[in-house]
Amino acid sequence: MDQPKRYLITAALPYANGLKHIGHLAGAYLPADIYVRYLRAQKREVAFICGSDEHGTAIPIQAMKEGTTPRAIIDKYHALIKQNFADLGISFDIYHRTSEPIHHETSQEFFTYLNDRGELEVKETEQYYDEEAKTFLADRYIMGTCPVCGYQRAYGDQCENCGTSLSPDQLIHPHSTLSGKPPVKKNTKHWYLPLGKHEPFLREWILQQHKDDWRSTVVGQCKSWIDGGLQSRAVTRDLDWGIKVPLPDAAGKVLYVWFDAPIGYISATRQWGLDTGRDWKPYWYDKDTKLVHFIGKDNIVFHCIIFPIMLQLHGNILPENVPANEFMNLEGEKMSTSRGWKLDMQDYIDDFINKDNGGTQLADSLRYYLTLIAPETKDSEFIWKGFQDANNSELVAKFGNFVNRTFVLMHKLCNGKVPPLHKDRLDATDEEMMTAIGTTKTKVEQLLEGYRFREAQFEVIMLSDLANKYMQKKEPWIVARTLAETPENQQLIDNCLHICLQITANLAILINPFLPFTAKKMLHMMKVVEKMLDWENAGKLNLLSVGYSLRAPELLFRKIEDEEVKAQVDKLLASKAALAAPTTAPDQPVTETPAPGADTAAAKPTIVYDDFARLDLKVGTIVQAEKVAKADKLLKLLVDMGAEQRTIVSGIAQHFNPADIIGRQVVVVANLAPRKMKGIESNGMILMAEDKSGKLHFVSPGETIEAGSGVS
Ligand code: 2FM
Ligand code: ZN
Repeated sequence: MDQPKRYLITAALPYANGLKHIGHLAGAYLPADIYVRYLRAQKREVAFICGSDEHGTAIPIQAMKEGTTPRAIIDKYHALIKQNFADLGISFDIYHRTSEPIHHETSQEFFTYLNDRGELEVKETEQYYDEEAKTFLADRYIMGTCPVCGYQRAYGDQCENCGTSLSPDQLIHPHSTLSGKPPVKKNTKHWYLPLGKHEPFLREWILQQHKDDWRSTVVGQCKSWIDGGLQSRAVTRDLDWGIKVPLPDAAGKVLYVWFDAPIGYISATRQWGLDTGRDWKPYWYDKDTKLVHFIGKDNIVFHCIIFPIMLQLHGNILPENVPANEFMNLEGEKMSTSRGWKLDMQDYIDDFINKDNGGTQLADSLRYYLTLIAPETKDSEFIWKGFQDANNSELVAKFGNFVNRTFVLMHKLCNGKVPPLHKDRLDATDEEMMTAIGTTKTKVEQLLEGYRFREAQFEVIMLSDLANKYMQKKEPWIVARTLAETPENQQLIDNCLHICLQITANLAILINPFLPFTAKKMLHMMKVVEKMLDWENAGKLNLLSVGYSLRAPELLFRKIEDEEVKAQVDKLLASKAALAAPTTAPDQPVTETPAPGADTAAAKPTIVYDDFARLDLKVGTIVQAEKVAKADKLLKLLVDMGAEQRTIVSGIAQHFNPADIIGRQVVVVANLAPRKMKGIESNGMILMAEDKSGKLHFVSPGETIEAGSGVS
């Protein structure tokens, strides 16, 4: 495509069901922001669209977990995520919401348009139904054993252990997460988008037209989907949270979240049009618009296959590119919210940006490292030590150091003013340095146009590295010592600092898409207006006028200390350990005697089956018991668990004689994180019942059974 008239850039709408981590940031939002900032600097017409994805089962499930309503969940997380993005410099033109009426209306209109033209099929099928909860079960509400890896808590749509996409029918021993009961099959009617019929279009459009300009990982995934046979996809669901299906015979049905979410890009653009007085329609209908979707690899099928079919049927333009990123791991493991192995944007903001000695420079430090390790072609790895090294040895020691030295020397050796350039005293080193500026600009431009953000950023840092070396070679501070005898050597000093200052101005322009807070700071130091950052100025060598006086330097970046890195790694390990233990783990052993008469059966918030299923309960037999020295409530037990024997410290010493309980069978919480009590590591917890008088009783199987038997 020749240079288009306008650009429409979208970044995947995050689910408003929880905080988002830096893997999300690196996957879609940061590269999109870099691209958009570059386009804006090129003065191209661009709309950068994002917002919250507020439908789907993820929302009511989170509401259940937090003991609140779906509405409260989306309001809370929409506001938090929106602010997190702003704090990290992600510059959306609109951050919309799919709960807005304009989105419901746009999605319903879309559905009606396709349905009226016979593009949807209606089918009656049997689906899982929970007779106790009286509701059809969306895939996420069904759990069972994964047929591929044997993981017992696989969901009806995906096994989070091995990543296989599943359908509920494939699960072994399926059960409802609402009631815990096995679901039954019941007839229900749904609307389907027949993907198979569009196979020729997809083959031509992706596998022919875009086979060379899309990332090979994206084309590869599309090809395997197409080759695997495209099945019809239901675009409606039996659910009460979502956008009502706009038909009289569809009571209790809503649009499938993956049908309405991408339409969210359109409704957000409409809203942006209303907010800014612009005409939104050409953005979605005029062929002279370049549409680019930034997403993570888990969203490829929706953005490259399903949504394009919908767009084509609806008469909209298609994406020119979908530069999907692979995943970013953290310290050697896959990032996971449920396992506590992640770094939320919020945590980074709290621990670095909003701390003393923090500030927006640390937003740029994160942006820098995430782009440095961007998972553009394969999964990558966020390592705290790597973050520290990149910050300290590249931002601080190369880029920051060069800018700082330039300013300090200019103040010291050139009276704080831009010195003149004495052309007749330029040598080959000066000429080479000046040429490098233009070369870098061209390279960065080509790389950004090709969505190769990692390499583009590298080129900018390399320019600062080269500039450092240039200054080192020229040594204006040494030349200054010769001035008494050779006053004309001031010209050499002038030339070096003139060039270094023009490089600094160029660095501000080139780094701006990547590190916008830094570019702003540099503008302030140079006393120039934002317009200087226009891309057309890159490569010029007269950006700062001779004689212009500049401000004193400010430090652009600060070092990241070893303790900060250690604290983050410790925090990560602690959060993982906390989540490996049941959420109800008390500070004291639960067997500790409560005050007599205390309401031990006090109501606790409702949990879903999922929460319960995280407990590993096993029958064990007590084989040894002894009092713990200097602790009148504790007994140290050795419990036979079948495959192993465990030491468990239990607060039951005031209720039982050690000798009397040898041979007793007990129920053990076997996956409770180990904890030390009176210097003894306790590996598990024994369940006890407590009567009204406060007396404790063992919870045991009705008759003696094999130690290690599971309890569920
Ligand atoms: O995977 C996700 O987080 C989805 N909420 C992305 C939706 S992208 C678009 F289609 F809205
Ligand atoms: Zn599996």
